[in-house]
Amino acid sequence: MPRGASARRQLRDDIPVARRSAPARSRSRGGGARLFLASIVVFSGAVLAVWFVVGTGSRRAEQRPSPAIELPSRPSADGRLLGHFPYLQADRSELISFSPGIELHVDAADALDAMRQAAAADGVDLRLLSGFRSTDLQDSIFFDVASERNQTAEERARVSAPPGYSEHSTGYAVDLGDGDAPETNLSVSFEDTRSFRWLQDHAARYHFVLSFPDGNRQGVSYEPWHWRFEGTADALRLFESARRFTRNPLQ
Ligand code: DAL
Ligand code: ZN
Repeated sequence: MPRGASARRQLRDDIPVARRSAPARSRSRGGGARLFLASIVVFSGAVLAVWFVVGTGSRRAEQRPSPAIELPSRPSADGRLLGHFPYLQADRSELISFSPGIELHVDAADALDAMRQAAAADGVDLRLLSGFRSTDLQDSIFFDVASERNQTAEERARVSAPPGYSEHSTGYAVDLGDGDAPETNLSVSFEDTRSFRWLQDHAARYHFVLSFPDGNRQGVSYEPWHWRFEGTADALRLFESARRFTRNPLQ
């Protein structure tokens, strides 16, 4: 068994030249370097992959449209706008002049005439304050008055329908006052008049119904003066959505 330097030389010489050559050594050292380089490549790749995924995610987040802003009141599935149901303007041929400057649908006019006479017979002076309104007039009543009063559309809609959404456009709706208490015209205090009490007791006989009772589900302010005529199939059809919406299902 060789010993010492000669032994080490012997040992070294036992290794085939090919294994002792630079290439062999370098192969040996090169393997380490490759491993090192490979590690760097793998590590860099991993870092790049993470950067790409995170970057893509954040880029996607940047490109993603902002979540839709929640609207204060989304359009109603039943076609209402700000609580009001849509109504087409009455055909001019269906309208007649009821009193100076006030037109009504001919069917509503006949019924109102009969109702006023019955009220008069009971000593009650029912007055017609407003009837048919064109969509243009309703436009002005809604937007111009809202502007004059510095009201938002939501605030305005509590007392007035947007154009295209007023029962007055049909010619079947009437605003009624008491000739003996004109100061209550278009005011909630109209409910304290004899006319209103008479209407509560008799209007159904003439097919008039209160459109916006106190606490109505449409969110429209209480209007004791506003009544609509439902005495024909055409009128019933027009107001069916409103009736379904407001009627008490237990009735
Ligand atoms: N005042 C009622 C709501 C209308 O404008 O038709
Ligand atoms: Zn009205």
